[in-house]
Amino acid sequence: PKDVGILALEVYFPSQYVEQVELEKYDGVEAGKYTLGLGQKQMGFCSAHEDINSLCLTVVQRLVERSRLSWDSIGRLEVGTETIIDKSKAVKTVLMQLFQDSGNTDVEGIDTTNACYGGTASLFNSVDWVESSSWDGRYAMVVCGDIAVYATGNARPTGGAGAVAMLVGPEAPLVLERGVRGTHMEHVYDFYKPDMASEYPMVDGKLSIQCYFRALDQCYSVYRKKIQSQWQKVGVDKPFTLEDFQFMIFHTPFCKLVQKSVGRMMLNDFLAAPNPDTQSGLYKGLQAFRGVKLEDTYSDKDVEKAFQKASLEMFSQKTKPSLLLSSRNGNMYTPSMYGCLASLLAQYSAQQLAGSRIGAFSYGSGLAASLFSMRVSQDTAPGSPLDKLVSSLSDLQTRLDARKRVPPEEFAEIMKQREESHHLVNHTPQGSKDDLFPGTWYLERVDDKHRRQYARR
Ligand code: ACO
Repeated sequence: PKDVGILALEVYFPSQYVEQVELEKYDGVEAGKYTLGLGQKQMGFCSAHEDINSLCLTVVQRLVERSRLSWDSIGRLEVGTETIIDKSKAVKTVLMQLFQDSGNTDVEGIDTTNACYGGTASLFNSVDWVESSSWDGRYAMVVCGDIAVYATGNARPTGGAGAVAMLVGPEAPLVLERGVRGTHMEHVYDFYKPDMASEYPMVDGKLSIQCYFRALDQCYSVYRKKIQSQWQKVGVDKPFTLEDFQFMIFHTPFCKLVQKSVGRMMLNDFLAAPNPDTQSGLYKGLQAFRGVKLEDTYSDKDVEKAFQKASLEMFSQKTKPSLLLSSRNGNMYTPSMYGCLASLLAQYSAQQLAGSRIGAFSYGSGLAASLFSMRVSQDTAPGSPLDKLVSSLSDLQTRLDARKRVPPEEFAEIMKQREESHHLVNHTPQGSKDDLFPGTWYLERVDDKHRRQYARR
């Protein structure tokens, strides 16, 4: 099969949010810390009657309905998530309820977990399946979903929640480029969830940021090496730089980190360049940083500031539009980077996107990270796969605007309700169904044997 990649994409986010400006006041921190310091505007969150299964049920059903797919046409479905409510039974098995009437049970794939990376692992698996001898000619579907909540304290404003579903197959408008993925994995305790009874992670925020930057450096270096060697085989002998990505999207714990990451990639380019011009152009005035070592600069504010400033234009062009959902809904964990992809597609026309290369950096604490790229197809004709993909996401902003604003006091109360009802049996969760978007699945009841029953609004 040719041109394997993403054919269609659907996003689900909660119908309620809290304003970060109001959260700053409520938490008693300095004004501007969450909004300017972290770059966050709003944060979406779920009531107690939404869980990981309901989020994924909603997004999969929406994708199938809106793309007018038949349930029979899906031969693989996998879920990337770190929101674990059962140590054995996969979210995927819960999603099989949706297939019941079609009689299609021949659906490969299961859940994949490592912090925010599970969705990317699932996407790679699905693309590889379509390209392999195991492929049976049908679509694969990748689902990523998470409820990102932190205990009270400095990590709480970096939460969020949501789910993304993607349809994978040949002749896609977004083709995953072959043979160039750069991956970095290592053992580190930056963010992890050892307490099975709690929804909250253990997190070393500062360490997690260092790890994120280190993984970005490593993945970018491997990616560049691989793509340059492909180029050499066809007679192109030049270094790969950020300029070769028309767009660059990132896993987005908070938007400021992503802006710094664009600067970080520019630092990588600058240090790799044999003879960079520091008198004019992109690297003007950066001569003083010529001798720095990447591994010494993870928390070097001078380097960070200089490259953030030098890369400002690139950030605005290549990355900023992808932060719509992240800035207004927060960190969704596994779907975060795919929400950035949706935001990008929602804000450009097929003509503006056609032919471009989108770089994508996925990071999951613990840690697992990859940098890969997608090629956007050239065919922008009305009714083409690219046209359909882009127009299906054009209502993203309107959907965000339609959410309900909740005061921080009520948000804190709902977080407490979640803590108290998490893992209760013989229980009907609280939360008004009327506040959910139409078509949203919700948790109706947990019986005395922990079995969960869902209904759809
Ligand atoms: N006005 C403007 N900016 C301000 C203000 C203010 N009044 N007050 C603080 N700031 C800035 C700070 O200078 C800092 O910016 P800088 O790093 O560019 O200098 C920023 O706001 C954050 O302030 P800190 O004091 O560093 O924040 P704190 O340490 O309290 O928490 C952190 C930030 C560590 C990110 C925390 O929210 C956290 O642990 N989050 C979860 C972990 C995370 O998301 N890690 C990222 C990768 S892993 C993953 O995806 C889960």
